[in-house]
Amino acid sequence: MKLWGGRFQQETDGRMDDFHSSIHFDCRLYREDIEGSIAHATMLGECRIIAQNEAQVICQGLKEILAEIEAGKVEFDPGAEDIHMNIEKLLTERIGPVGGKLHTGRSRNDQVALDLRLYLKRQIRVIQGQILTLQEALVERAEANFDLIMPGYTHLQRAQPILFAHHMLAYFEMFQRDYERLSDCFRRTDVLPLGAGALAGTTFPIRRERVAELLGFSAIAQNSLDAVSDRDFAIDFLAAASLIMVHLSRLGEEIVLWSSQEFGFVELSDSFSTGSSIMPQKKNPDVAELVRGKTGRVMGDLVGLLTVLKGIPLAYNKDLQEDKESIFDAADTLQGCLGIFAPMLSTMKVRGQVTKNAAGGFALATDLADFLAKRGLPFRQAHEVIGKLVYYCIQEQKELEELTGEELANFSPLFDEEALNLLSPEASVGLRDHTGGTAPNQVVRQLERAKGLIAKARQDLDR
Ligand code: ARG
Repeated sequence: MKLWGGRFQQETDGRMDDFHSSIHFDCRLYREDIEGSIAHATMLGECRIIAQNEAQVICQGLKEILAEIEAGKVEFDPGAEDIHMNIEKLLTERIGPVGGKLHTGRSRNDQVALDLRLYLKRQIRVIQGQILTLQEALVERAEANFDLIMPGYTHLQRAQPILFAHHMLAYFEMFQRDYERLSDCFRRTDVLPLGAGALAGTTFPIRRERVAELLGFSAIAQNSLDAVSDRDFAIDFLAAASLIMVHLSRLGEEIVLWSSQEFGFVELSDSFSTGSSIMPQKKNPDVAELVRGKTGRVMGDLVGLLTVLKGIPLAYNKDLQEDKESIFDAADTLQGCLGIFAPMLSTMKVRGQVTKNAAGGFALATDLADFLAKRGLPFRQAHEVIGKLVYYCIQEQKELEELTGEELANFSPLFDEEALNLLSPEASVGLRDHTGGTAPNQVVRQLERAKGLIAKARQDLDR
């Protein structure tokens, strides 16, 4: 018999049960569902909507069910549709008809919205912790390789020398914004929908503020229709998750390139790479590749849920049941990726001599143009002069560093020995000495800032 069976004359077709049941995936919400129910029953008792001893019996029963689920002793019943009805059924089997009072003044529509919000609040905090761990790994890599110079790229062509630390800290900044986006998302998720009932509220004298207090929500939803039909908090989460994946994917792509023999900038630890079943020489950057690949899944989860929402009228519609698998998949995938990325990065060796060799040569051309401009030549003309100089070097098969003072003087009378002193990757990075630049003392400032932000976030998370 269904919990909603009163109005029905015929049994549900087995195919119908199979089709619309969600217990095989929403069973993951058992903890949130029980916590929500305990808070609801407690409030019902306190408000004398049900007797206080009834509320106690209900809460006790729910706690026992939670313990049994956690001990692996419960098998959910697919005939009972979803996690909400499974738990109510288990409760009534355990404590008798009084279990049927739990659903007073509540609907599965506000209940499922509550469960999801509780679930996401937890996931967000876990993911924020993982972002901090990744940021710590980036900062550690930056510090451990502080003197290391590499070419920066535009269009994947060598552009100008930068500190490797500067490159790592660029990712620190991206993940910092991701962290903050999740904080925003948490704030919007932290709103209690319970009390909305099916859609219009309830005729019982409930105290929503009390439920919010019991469950640790900072606010309560102000419109019952919105409370049961909105999933934008979940879309916020999926959008934030997608962007984190995009950032991981970009770094992953760089690591794939850097670990190729063509670049040879880094070597991944054996512990975080794989071999080939046929080619004995291979060492593949699977972590970085898989993360890059899984980014598509998470973006798909976002687009999937946006699409579910776009056409449904207020308030609850069963379409909304399709929200959960996207959310679970994105949360799982993201946590898996963040969890593996930090140790892969921490154990990655950077080949400083290779990166430095790649950072000289024509990557210093801008510095020579800047030199002439500082001597008064309009930059556009300086650019033209150095362009010709580069062409000359290509013809003569020379690097810029190999030019003599005489050769330079042939291109501009403004050149002197000082120009020759400029021609090193170290000099080049040292000159970019302003906030945001790659000069070592500026990168030290970035590092200090990064450590401060991490420490503050750790404190906030632990609270
Ligand atoms: N399993 C449902 C879901 O995930 C719970 C809410 C069902 N509400 C309803 N009126 N059928 O959305």
